[in-house]
Amino acid sequence: MSDKVQVSRADGVLRLVLDRPDKKNALDREMYRAMIGALEAARSDMDVRVVVFTSAAADFTAGNDLADFRDFLENPQDFPALAFVRALASFEKPMVAAVTGDAVGVGTTMLFHCDLVYASPDARLRMPFIDLGLVPEAAASLLVPRRVGMARASQFLLLGEAFTGEEAFRLGVVNSLAPPEAVDATAMEAARRLARKPAEALLAARRLMRGDPAEILARIEEEAALFARALSSPQARERLAAFFSRPK
Ligand code: COA
Repeated sequence: MSDKVQVSRADGVLRLVLDRPDKKNALDREMYRAMIGALEAARSDMDVRVVVFTSAAADFTAGNDLADFRDFLENPQDFPALAFVRALASFEKPMVAAVTGDAVGVGTTMLFHCDLVYASPDARLRMPFIDLGLVPEAAASLLVPRRVGMARASQFLLLGEAFTGEEAFRLGVVNSLAPPEAVDATAMEAARRLARKPAEALLAARRLMRGDPAEILARIEEEAALFARALSSPQARERLAAFFSRPK
């Protein structure tokens, strides 16, 4: 349990609300653990048909807590971010996301594991791994080119260019756009509709559409090995230090 992730359940929908507004919903270890626990419990809970990721604040999430990245070298065993992306990739029930404001790093890569994504036109999606001296995670190196083509994937992953909710909609990453104040309700409505579908048929269709998760899980491990090495590089240390000493 965490105050920073509100978990609730109604109408077959498990709702995970990121709630750490002072840090733009950056995901720390406690938040990852809360989400992993909720997903694990949801696997065998027949009353949970669909999971929704949303935010209590203006921003979806500023991505992994960079202080946790900085501390990784002292405590490499305690890295629930990896367990979270594994849990996402192997989760078998539909997942829906409501995205407003900033969606950075895993805030964007996790969307490629979701079945339906709703966003505001001005949402800002960004995967700045290379600029931080890191490598893509959550199988983004596989899923992003597959979904948006190599040209756009190179722009977003290699150049680290941001893209808006509107562009994500045009590229087929986002299902539909809504004003920021209506994104959550739009996502919840879609989730409730999914939750009312015949459960077995829905799960079977999703499994068929997504294919064998083994390839995605294997890519997550490949990326994770490179990511751990990259985190200890002087470039990454420098970039992380620069974030925390930036002028305000
Ligand atoms: N990890 C830890 N803290 C973070 C954070 C992160 N990923 N993102 C934002 N924060 C914190 C800031 O340190 C600041 O805290 P403080 O007020 O105690 O100093 C607070 O959240 C607000 O952030 P700020 O940078 O002042 O807001 P902004 O609107 O100017 O910029 C972002 C928003 C998201 C563009 C900017 O915070 C950012 O680039 N964050 C890092 C994103 C990132 O690289 N994520 C990891 C990707 S792998």
